[in-house]
Amino acid sequence: MSQRLKLEIKALDAIEGRDLVVLVSDGLTLPGPAEALAGAEAQALLTRAAAAERFKGKALSGLTLPAPEGAPYERLIAVGVGAATDRADLDFVKLGGAIAGRLAAGRSAEVILALPDGGIDAKHAAEIALGLKLRSYVFDRYKTKSKDKDDTGSIPVTLRAADPAAVKKALKVSDAIAAGVVLARDLVNEPPNVLYPEEFADRAKKLEKLGVEVEVLDEKELKKIGMRALLGVGQGSRRESRVVVMRWNGAGKGDEPVAFVGKGVTFDTGGISLKPGAGMEDMKGDMAGAACVVGLMHALAARKAKVNAIGVIGLVENMPDGNAQRPGDIVASLSGQTIEIINTDAEGRLVLADVLWYTQDRFKPRFMINLATLTGAILVALAQENAGLFSNNDELAQRLTAAGLATGETVWRMPLDKAYDKMIDSKFADMKNSAGRYAGSITAAQFLQRHVNDTAWAHLDIAGTGMAAKDSEINRSWGPGWGVRLLDRLVKDHYES
Ligand code: BES
Ligand code: MN
Ligand code: ZN
Repeated sequence: MSQRLKLEIKALDAIEGRDLVVLVSDGLTLPGPAEALAGAEAQALLTRAAAAERFKGKALSGLTLPAPEGAPYERLIAVGVGAATDRADLDFVKLGGAIAGRLAAGRSAEVILALPDGGIDAKHAAEIALGLKLRSYVFDRYKTKSKDKDDTGSIPVTLRAADPAAVKKALKVSDAIAAGVVLARDLVNEPPNVLYPEEFADRAKKLEKLGVEVEVLDEKELKKIGMRALLGVGQGSRRESRVVVMRWNGAGKGDEPVAFVGKGVTFDTGGISLKPGAGMEDMKGDMAGAACVVGLMHALAARKAKVNAIGVIGLVENMPDGNAQRPGDIVASLSGQTIEIINTDAEGRLVLADVLWYTQDRFKPRFMINLATLTGAILVALAQENAGLFSNNDELAQRLTAAGLATGETVWRMPLDKAYDKMIDSKFADMKNSAGRYAGSITAAQFLQRHVNDTAWAHLDIAGTGMAAKDSEINRSWGPGWGVRLLDRLVKDHYES
């Protein structure tokens, strides 16, 4: 449905596909194995066409040519990897994306995994495979007419490698990550009539197949626990709220867990503080934080990460009806603190307040990271280039920043401070859920922090990065699955035993 690439790994001994993909540097010389498989005339053809098309082998650029007369393939696709001196900076995931961007549905392809200045090791090959998979993802589940689909048919791709066994092994890890990102994308792309809290919980339940323990808390249990802030958001909806707890036990029994928490508002109308109509359909993506947590748990379990990881997601629908929460209402959160509702559209923080408190209290995690499409204001500050990072812990913040640079899912740290905290003091309750427009992302973060004790904590505001994504080398989907690769990388670099 959403993944049309069919990947195989074979030796560099022959080719069978219709498209032949070769990697070239600024010198435009075909790598040895590519030259051998492309045939005698390929180099001359490439040199001539490159001059005419001003193709210079720049990283991620490409040139597609009809194959030389009599060749056993139909198109020769050269993809640039830049100068040898820049090789250390080459992003192989993006390279895989650039390659996939030149392939066509319904056509088989061969990719020769060799660089002009040597081979491609298994780790980089797996990164190319990840980029290929992510770029070729399409969400066309609800297209019934094939002419409306971008194009149809699968793309059988063969990666030709010097050591196919090593590449296959490395692929097990990148396949796990790809599957996690794809799952997160699917969830974000699904329409809100299909993906409401119960259905979302059912999808999360499927992680049990991978060995994840999944617990679904229904409204009765949530009431008993005391998640009144979360329940207040969902009370105007015909759909029941849910909280899902996922546990991946990949390390020793006594190993302190790491915890990930997600905002899962399956649709955000704003509630009684109703949003304007234009663009409201985008609010189906207001569960991107929860989608990321589910995708991450999938990735960790599928690659059997040696970590104990907890994922907790708060699933609600924010609707206006006769039973909906009002501005002026006062609710008590699980922490015991009272909250004056100023704006029913500032609902994400209410959901997270309870889920954060619950997670730290029950699991005493080593750290707790939450992801939420929390504020439009983060788009004002950072556009779609970075997620906003707020943290009470410098080490965690630095590690997240580094993982962001390594994966391209970048974060930018924003301040937390007493002066901003004061802005959410309320006349009638312990705090209010909205302090107006100024510093909107920061006051939202301060609200969350009032529900975090001394646990190391980071909040990622992904309203800009988690949905309505711009096209990139590795993504053409509205829901980008943002954060899965970032957090998988954070875990891999620092928290696996
Ligand atoms: N889900 C929205 C934030 C959002 C905006 C996500 C744009 C993605 C794109 C959130 O629940 C919200 O409505 N926030 C309000 C807060 C305000 C009422 C204090 C906002 O950003 O306007
Ligand atoms: Mn809202
Ligand atoms: Zn929202």
